[in-house]
Amino acid sequence: MHSKFSNSRGYPTLRVVARLDNGHAGTASVPSGASTGRYEALELRDGDMARYGGKGVLKAVSHVNGIIRDRLMGMAACPQEPIDTALIVLDGTESKIKLGANAILGVSMAIARAAASAAGVPLYCYLGGVSATRLPVPMMNVINGGRHAQNSLDFQEFMIVPHGAPNFAEAVRYGAETFHALHELLHKAGHSTAVGDEGGFAPNLRTIEEACELIVEAIRKTGLQPGTDVALAFDPAASTFANDGKYVFAKSGDKTLSRDELLSLYNGLLDAYPIVSIEDGFAEDDWDGFRLQMAACGDRIQIVGDDLYVTNPRFIQKGIDSRATNAVLIKLNQIGTVTETMKAVQMCRDAGWGYVISHRSGETEDTFISDFAVAMGGGQIKAGSLSRSERLAKYNRLLEIERELGPAAVYESPFLTH
Ligand code: PGA
Ligand code: ZN
Repeated sequence: MHSKFSNSRGYPTLRVVARLDNGHAGTASVPSGASTGRYEALELRDGDMARYGGKGVLKAVSHVNGIIRDRLMGMAACPQEPIDTALIVLDGTESKIKLGANAILGVSMAIARAAASAAGVPLYCYLGGVSATRLPVPMMNVINGGRHAQNSLDFQEFMIVPHGAPNFAEAVRYGAETFHALHELLHKAGHSTAVGDEGGFAPNLRTIEEACELIVEAIRKTGLQPGTDVALAFDPAASTFANDGKYVFAKSGDKTLSRDELLSLYNGLLDAYPIVSIEDGFAEDDWDGFRLQMAACGDRIQIVGDDLYVTNPRFIQKGIDSRATNAVLIKLNQIGTVTETMKAVQMCRDAGWGYVISHRSGETEDTFISDFAVAMGGGQIKAGSLSRSERLAKYNRLLEIERELGPAAVYESPFLTH
């Protein structure tokens, strides 16, 4: 097992190779967030300012090649749970900071891949079984703001959701054509068409409404129907603009909103645009904000908790008990092992909630989440825009899976149509 690698922001991350006695091997690379939740499992970074501004990962690599390898040597690669339990116990901390959640997750994913290879089945089939035939509807982040772009937008993600497509390949076409139409509209209006961390455009638009108008116009321009063919979704990532119980739109001009005012803003957007999902509309500690939004429109749209839950069963249980949302964003590196992530998904299923398998803003060409989304069968993935190869890699892998499944492949909207 080893080694060091770079992510889409040019910072080091881990690429782990797990080799089994029978000659099979699995490789996995670890992603990294920018708008991270306060309670996420923690990446171990060296803090040596002489290297990568302190973001080196030599310590995490040495844990993989030392203490972790020594512990796992001789264990069976399948089932996954004893492997992940051994990693959790070896670390011994709640946040996985001793070994590093980046070291632990890299090993957990690489071993799952090696086991799939040894079983002679694709990863989605190994993790999801023979019934794993549902392709996810993608949430494609076509306008970036917040911490993912140096522009005037406080909302982090404006996404398009091609849920009305007949299959995944067509969903990619709907998304790509809309993305290209948006490029043309922005260019004509004199806006920048440079992209942000997740491959969406990062223009200096004046308002949230302007971004929505442009996206809706782009959908129309392609000949598709806004709402029925391609809907909208947001991830404002509200923790990033929350301050002392208020919400401060500092990038777009110094506007400060109360929780109620922010809720009204969302409600106004819901009335004006075909929105199917809002993620992290409130800050990670503003449980009341989420609950109010659920009461106001939880029967109309998907309300997703990301920073609120950090894929942690403890927080998800709190959300289920208090009806805080009706869906969860699922990120493997927020919790740190494949088994714990699958437990988080199972809790969503048991509660009748939606779940969205997600990338991070700092990504690699690894496509584990594509297989994972099919394996989990929830019908949703968030993997960025239609540019930047680390984003496209996820869609390309899903195209491959759809082709492999042939007529067994299922593509169904998890949303009510508008
Ligand atoms: P992050 O953003 O990877 O920077 O945390 C993604 C998200 O908030 O969903
Ligand atoms: Zn988010």
